[in-house]
Formats: sequence, C-alpha cells, structure tokens
Amino acid sequence: MHKVRLGLIGLGNMGKFHAAYLMQGKVQRCELTSVASSSPEKLAAFPALRHFSSGQELIASGLVDAVLICTPHYQHTTLGVAAFERGLHVLVEKPIAVHLADADRLIDASLKADRRLAAMFQLRVEPRYLKVKQLIESGELGAIVRFNWIITDWFRTEAYYGSGGWRATWRGEGGGALLNQCPHQLDLLCWWLGLPQRVRGFCQFGRYHQIEVEDNVTVYFDYDSGASGVFITSTGEAPGTNRCEIAGEKGKIVLENGKLLFTRNEVAMSDFSRTAASGFARPGVWNVEIPAEPHAAPHAAVTQNFVDSILDGVPLIATGADAVGSVHLANAALYSSWTGADVRPPLDAGAYAEALKKKVEESTFTKAPTIAITQDDFTKSFTR
Ligand SMILES: NC(=O)c1ccc[n+]([C@@H]2O[C@H](COP(=O)([O-])OP(=O)(O)OC[C@H]3O[C@@H](n4cnc5c(N)ncnc54)[C@H](O)[C@@H]3O)[C@@H](O)[C@H]2O)c1
Repeated sequence: MHKVRLGLIGLGNMGKFHAAYLMQGKVQRCELTSVASSSPEKLAAFPALRHFSSGQELIASGLVDAVLICTPHYQHTTLGVAAFERGLHVLVEKPIAVHLADADRLIDASLKADRRLAAMFQLRVEPRYLKVKQLIESGELGAIVRFNWIITDWFRTEAYYGSGGWRATWRGEGGGALLNQCPHQLDLLCWWLGLPQRVRGFCQFGRYHQIEVEDNVTVYFDYDSGASGVFITSTGEAPGTNRCEIAGEKGKIVLENGKLLFTRNEVAMSDFSRTAASGFARPGVWNVEIPAEPHAAPHAAVTQNFVDSILDGVPLIATGADAVGSVHLANAALYSSWTGADVRPPLDAGAYAEALKKKVEESTFTKAPTIAITQDDFTKSFTR
C-alpha cells in the first residue's frame, strides 16, 4: 500500500475540521475518499467524495483502508469494533470510549484484527507539553512531589449543551466535563506521571447548567511514589483559569497563558532541608522561561502519524492502550463521587459499566430541543 484511503465518520464540528485539512492535502499519502453523515446537507458540502448515510455503511463499503471516527462517544466503540472486523485501521476521537469495558473491547478488537488503533490526542505533539514530559523524564525536575491543575476556563453556555441531543446526558455522552472537555488533560497526566494508586473525586452534576452530568469537578490523586495531585475543572466558571503547576525536588514548573516557566532549585529541596543551618533558609533559584511555540497543526500531525504508522510502521503518538488511561481517570473520578469512596486503580470495569447503565436507566432528565448554533468559531475550543 502506498497511500491510505481514509473515510471520515461524523461531520459535526470536529469532523468538518478534520475534513478541511485533509481536503487541503495537509496529510501526505492520505486520500480522504469517503464521508459518512446522517445529514444530507453535511454530505453535500463534499461533492467530490463518496457519501454514506451512516458510519456502518462506510465501513462495509470496501472503499477505505482506515477510518477517522468523529461521532458522539458511545459510537467510538461500536464503529471502531465494526471497522476492525472489516480489517480497517482506526483513528478515533477522544475519549476512545465512554468507559473502561468499552475501551478494552476496542483494544481487543484491534489486536485481534492486527490493525492500528490510534487516538486523537493532539496535545501530545504540542512543544510545551513535550517539554514538561522531557523535564520529568530527564530527572531535571527531580522526583515529582505534587501537581495542581486548575482548568476552569472551559466555559460553556446553555446554548452549547443544547446544540446536540447527545450532549451532557448519561445516555448520549456518558459524562460531562471529564468525558468531553478534559480527556486531553487527563491523558497528559497519565503520559507524564502514569496512573495514580488512589483517586477521590468530588463531582457536582448540573451545578451550573440544565444538564444531568458533571460540570464542576475536583479530583484528588495519590501516586505510589508519594506524590499527590489535585485536578479542578468546570464548564460553568468565567473567566476561569488554566494553570498547571508541577513541583519536584529540583524546582517547579508552571504552565499558564501558553508560557512554560521553570523555577529551578540550585539544590534539591530535601537535600537543602537536611543540610541547611538556618531554619528559614531556602534554596536559591534560577528562573527559566522555556520556549515552546504552539504547534501549527496538531490534529493534522496526529493524522499524519497514523498514516505513517500504517504505511511505514512508525510508532503511534497515542495508541489505544495509551489512551485508556484518560478513560480510567475519568471513570474513577465519577465512580468515586457516586460511591463517596476512594478508587484504587485498576477500577473494576464491569462495576463501572453497571453503575453507568443504572444512571442511564434511572435518568428522568428531559433534554430541551436542540438549538442550532450558527455563529461559533469552534476552533476556539482548542486553545489549551
Ligand atoms: N480532538 C479535539 O480537539 C476535539 C475537539 C472537539 C470534539 N472532539 C470530539 O469529537 C467527537 C465529535 O464531537 P463534535 O463536537 O464534532 O460533535 P457534533 O455533535 O458536532 O458532531 C457529531 C456528528 O456525528 C454524527 N453521527 C452520529 N452518529 C453517526 C454515525 N453512526 N455515522 C455517521 N455520523 C454520525 C452526528 O450526526 C453529528 O453530526 C467527540 O468525540 C468529541 O469529544 C475532539
């Protein structure tokens, strides 16, 4: 194979965004041949491509080697498994699944089919997040002792939640801020620090909006190393904050307003504490601003890597097995909130799926009619 014939499933906000750079030829050795949407108007915007009224039909067509799935969350698993059963490769939008059991099914199907399963975690190519990984892995920051990520600038209006029948419902989306807005940040935490050994979530459901899922969240994490962390997110707070602070023995990094600042201890803090003669002395510091310009086209880079992986066997930026971590953290935070107890990963995937099913079955929430939003710049949602 010299070129990947790609099918795009779902032409909503994200599907249209992927289609645009693919149609502009931004991904080498990849031809967008087919699109699937239940909406004839959305399909009509792509007169040169093959049209399918559902992802299932596109998958069964025999006209593509791979699919990019941009549908509501639950279908990531059903369409992904169907694609693997047809021998296709799959690039799936985040989250790769709503819950761990579905993520496992998707990964198993990819292994059985011996096909690529990649996740659209485009923040993994952003220089500032790569630098953080480098600082942690090189030991430059020293042993990590704590992180604080306050990401409360995901402000969303009622119109946003009203813009899709699936949004912000247990049945349609399977969660709120943790499943929709935060998979990228939860993925980065797993990528940098691995899975915690204890999760305690405090979620508020419909605190700010007419929704049944979480829109205000605080999660506490403990790691085997003794490090701890707090992750705070909200879709109801304005102006909100996006500040990620990670403290290590050799200093701290702060990522805020697109800047990465490293305050480096001249002497590791515990060594200093053990050896200082004065009670109030503290290590001297160097303030370093680490340059990290935003990536020009992070989504296209992940899609390019998917294509290169299919054609040349290069490692994927985010495999299904990598991407399961963020599902794990989101599920653990919700389960901990529902039960009022700690979760010690691995979370019981079956118990979580049952608990979620119960939420769906017992829901009395009535979704207001869909509101058509016409004047939004969807790409504003990427600036994180
Ligand atoms: N990576 C990112 O930066 C990013 C940003 C936003 C959204 N997303 C993700 O993209 C996905 C889609 O989000 P969105 O905002 O585009 O939602 P959306 O509601 O705007 O679009 C979803 C589309 O999928 C279509 N669809 C549903 N079932 C289908 C099927 N079986 N076959 C074909 N089409 C089908 C719907 O008609 C709808 O047009 C979600 O998983 C979301 O989390 C990723």
